[in-house]
Amino acid sequence: MPTFQTGDPSAPAFWTERFERNFMPWDRGGVPAALEQFVAAAPGPMVALIPGCGIGYEVAYLSEAGWDVTAIDFSPAAVAAAQAALGPWAGRVLEADFFTFVPQKPIEMIYERAFLCALPRRKWERVVQRWAELLPVDGLLAGFFFFDAALKGPPFGADRDELQALLRPYFVLTDNQAVNDSIAVFKGRERWQVWRRI
Ligand SMILES: C[S@@+](CC[C@H](N)C(=O)[O-])C[C@H]1O[C@@H](n2cnc3c(N)ncnc32)[C@H](O)[C@@H]1O
Repeated sequence: MPTFQTGDPSAPAFWTERFERNFMPWDRGGVPAALEQFVAAAPGPMVALIPGCGIGYEVAYLSEAGWDVTAIDFSPAAVAAAQAALGPWAGRVLEADFFTFVPQKPIEMIYERAFLCALPRRKWERVVQRWAELLPVDGLLAGFFFFDAALKGPPFGADRDELQALLRPYFVLTDNQAVNDSIAVFKGRERWQVWRRI
């Protein structure tokens, strides 16, 4: 584990330092199977938002499937890396803070991967509130949720009941599956979940 100057994952500098030093243990290097299955089963392309996108492999995948996807990250280094990796889809990645970002059009689906668990638990209520504000009734929050009790992070894991208590005022759980293609840092401790806005 290298030594870093930054220690607050709520600040862009924390992530910028790690991207610049190529320390990205969360990076999957591609698109998870559960997202591919979700897209295959969807009735059609959706307007999607990816908060805290990192390299954003999913941007190319969803775009090529005809989805109207916008990805945001507040680290300039993450945005630069994503734009360099995404070729024709680079313009779909914006430098923006999730908590203040205002989409140009109504969002139908928010994709979650390693964003909630990147942030300290004290921020989670605000994250959930922002998800709820961004999605209309019947909009979908779909992705990977990390469950772990360790105090130190990131990644910061959720407790199953606590996560449900946070989400239930705004969402109903419609899918909840084990993940078979996790990378090491999440293996055995993440689930694919879909939450529908109520
Ligand atoms: C652990 S990385 C995950 C990246 C990507 N989702 C993935 O699966 O590889 C967390 C990302 O969230 C970004 N992030 C954290 N807080 C943010 C915020 N408030 N607004 C936008 N991006 C944020 C970080 O810059 C970082 O790129």
